[in-house]
Amino acid sequence: MAKTFPKSGLIIILFSVLFASSAVLLPVACQQFSRKLSRKEMGLKREKLSHLHFYFHDIVSGRNPTAVRVAAATTTNSSATGFGAVVMMDDPLTAGPDSSSKLVGRAQGIYASAAQEESGYLMVLNYVFVEGKYNGSTLSILGRNTILSTVREMPVVGGSGLFRFARGYAQARTHYFDLKTGDAVVEYNVYVIHY
Ligand SMILES: *[C@@H]1O[C@H](CO)[C@@H](O)[C@H](O)[C@H]1NC(C)=O
Ligand SMILES: *[C@@H]1O[C@H](CO)[C@@H](O)[C@H](O)[C@H]1NC(C)=O
Repeated sequence: MAKTFPKSGLIIILFSVLFASSAVLLPVACQQFSRKLSRKEMGLKREKLSHLHFYFHDIVSGRNPTAVRVAAATTTNSSATGFGAVVMMDDPLTAGPDSSSKLVGRAQGIYASAAQEESGYLMVLNYVFVEGKYNGSTLSILGRNTILSTVREMPVVGGSGLFRFARGYAQARTHYFDLKTGDAVVEYNVYVIHY
């Protein structure tokens, strides 16, 4: 009889180890789907309003285009507005209108002809900044761009890094447009509220 005691003792130890490890794997807090947080706990203090100004270079011609057509409808080429064309861009953003001026970021995403009666594009893109404290931060744009209008406005729907919780708008003005090649330089003023 005395010999069985250490055995059951061992079984008890094994069970408690198993129980303890499963308790470690599934703490109650991890099963909580949502909770309220104060802004202070997240280190969010005062919202600020920032104004960003830059030039967007959309180069569709030559050997190194920054915007390329990736899809179209069978009817796109016969449409006056290129309806159905989908273009992927990785366009440089610079501090000045000259393409050799300081690079502040890139506009990466898609523009697509979404209007049949006018030149109206759906813009879905991220500004990826590389300048100073904004390096690595992004702003996301989702909007409508009627490229022949003097001023176009597109919503800023979010951001990352320094631009977490961002909202605001971007205003576009065509600075230069080459009718022959289709290359364009667009001036942007972006107003964004963030922490
Ligand atoms: C439409 O035009 C583009 C050039 O703008 C050309 O690359 C493409 O092959 C044309 N597509 C059709 C279906 O004709
Ligand atoms: C931006 O960050 C990247 C990676 O963190 C770094 O390689 C680059 O030198 C930085 N650029 C500037 C202008 O600070």
